[in-house]
Amino acid sequence: MGKTLNNELNDPACISASNKKVKKRRKRKKSVPIITSIIFSVQRLKPDVISKLHQLNKKVELIKKQETIDKALKKAKLASLENEIKQIGGLSVYQTVSKTREHFHGNVNSSKWIISSLKTFASKSEVKLRLLDVGALSMNYENQASWLQCTYIDLNPQKKGILKSDFLKFKSGAMEEYDIIVLSLVLNFPGDAQVRGQMLVKATELCKTCGYIFVVLPLACLSNSRYLTHDNFHVMMESLGHSLIASHNSTKLSHKAFRKKSRLPEKCDFPKKVVQPGGNKNNFCIVLQT
Ligand SMILES: C[S@@+](CC[C@H](N)C(=O)[O-])C[C@H]1O[C@@H](n2cnc3c(N)ncnc32)[C@H](O)[C@@H]1O
Repeated sequence: MGKTLNNELNDPACISASNKKVKKRRKRKKSVPIITSIIFSVQRLKPDVISKLHQLNKKVELIKKQETIDKALKKAKLASLENEIKQIGGLSVYQTVSKTREHFHGNVNSSKWIISSLKTFASKSEVKLRLLDVGALSMNYENQASWLQCTYIDLNPQKKGILKSDFLKFKSGAMEEYDIIVLSLVLNFPGDAQVRGQMLVKATELCKTCGYIFVVLPLACLSNSRYLTHDNFHVMMESLGHSLIASHNSTKLSHKAFRKKSRLPEKCDFPKKVVQPGGNKNNFCIVLQT
């Protein structure tokens, strides 16, 4: 077999055939910039759809909270915001741009860090670990089916196999059902700081004791917010019964892994409070009150 291969390599006909293959391969390579330019044009068309949708979500939540406002006026304001959301393409366009951005950052996908971290600290077991991926655009753990049993949920699923569900209303069979909960770029989605806190409480309820919660956030949410720092966030998670066991910062994202030590405590109180004063800070905040 090896000999045949050598003969083929020395045969001029085979060499020219393989040259052709190289040429063909080169031709194929030329198509890459075309794909890239398509992705660029999608980005140009929807340059700030992500931040725009985050801002609109924030306005929606603020209006929903207003108790003194006239009901009809409230309804009209909410309808107008819904219309603005529709005009920028709604959740579907937001999701497409999120995926495109992932391609732009060298296909960096937080699931890679999550899988490699889990492989270092989760002990091998006969039973598959149950993982819940909240706000799933793709089924990132499909290739890990030998040791992970995954449930994917999203408000607006883009693929068959992802369940349509709002995490806060998600009904699973039991409390403490999952070994692993993944909140990747989902905690920064709701416009209301209290809703973010509720997501952390819900994750705590669904996670088994000794299970893992992974949180991925844009780095600026923790490094440049007037209401939250990395340390502050760790203290908040500690108060919910989780210890930080691993973390990794890329240029844009903060990845954190927590291990649940105990059941959800009776009382947690983290109101909105300035912890990093000064200009040039963003307003990302998580309010946690149980
Ligand atoms: C920026 S994408 C993140 C996708 C992916 N997890 C990642 O890390 O790339 C945020 C996703 O979270 C989903 N999402 C936001 N709030 C949610 C909720 N309460 N329940 C389920 N999915 C939610 C959105 O629909 C959106 O698809």
